[in-house]
Amino acid sequence: MILEVKNLSKQYSCGFFGLNKINAVNNVSFYIDDGEIFGLIGESGCGKTTITRMIMGLLKPTKGNIIFENENITRLNTKQWRPFRKKIQIVFQNPQMTFNPRRNLYFSCAEPIKIHGLSKDMNEKAMIRHMIERVGITEEQLKKFPHEISGGQAQRLSIARALSLKPRLLVCDEPTSMLDVSVQAHILKLIKEANEKYGVSMLFISHDLEVIQAMCSRIAVMKNGQIIETGYTNEIFNNPKHEYTKKLLSSYIKI
Ligand SMILES: Nc1ncnc2c1ncn2[C@@H]1O[C@H](COP(=O)(O)OP(=O)(O)OP(=O)(O)O)[C@@H](O)[C@H]1O
Ligand SMILES: [Mg+2]
Repeated sequence: MILEVKNLSKQYSCGFFGLNKINAVNNVSFYIDDGEIFGLIGESGCGKTTITRMIMGLLKPTKGNIIFENENITRLNTKQWRPFRKKIQIVFQNPQMTFNPRRNLYFSCAEPIKIHGLSKDMNEKAMIRHMIERVGITEEQLKKFPHEISGGQAQRLSIARALSLKPRLLVCDEPTSMLDVSVQAHILKLIKEANEKYGVSMLFISHDLEVIQAMCSRIAVMKNGQIIETGYTNEIFNNPKHEYTKKLLSSYIKI
């Protein structure tokens, strides 16, 4: 097992003096096996991104624990998180968030290579060239700033950067939402290849059920911050138990 999420909850305080409480994630538990792609599905606002942010250490859980490779990473400080930064990578739902808005994209691609000392055998420029050509980004485009490229270009670059670090776990939050169908197929192939060739385990979130079925061995279905059904993808797609899952899948004609 590479990741275990145990009884995880997150309550947001917002509104006037933070008096308004939202239980975005409520007692969620699941695990991801080594080399597995595990999917999370559920309607908008059900808490998927909140879970990813807690796994990445960007948000402190209200309750519960996150265990990565047998180590409890739930309440680590920035320094304690450092050894996990390379091992756990994320492709954000909003890919522009990935990049430093004040630096050009070349800087953002070179930064993790420098931090993790990856350019020993190959020089940095060659590594970056190799990284971007797989996702159809040119060196010319790297001279731009994050706000000067399209959402799809940012998404492709963020996937390329995350994969170049050869993480143990890749969290993909709607990784291809901004790509057209032909580019999407190519990028999904790249992600799947990272899983099959290098054994990268993944938490994979998508609203596209066809993509979920193609990518994930097991899935969890979420509603209002809770997991209501979990199991093998094909079993859930062929024989959903929960009424909500049936409703969710009924919009998907390829069952
Ligand atoms: N920083 C925040 N402060 C207050 N409430 C928040 C915050 N971030 C998210 N929420 C609320 O928490 C709930 C879960 O949000 P989350 O972004 O995790 O949903 P999601 O499942 O990722 O949705 P989508 O499919 O639209 O991306 C929503 O009701 C959202 O409005
Ligand atoms: Mg989300």
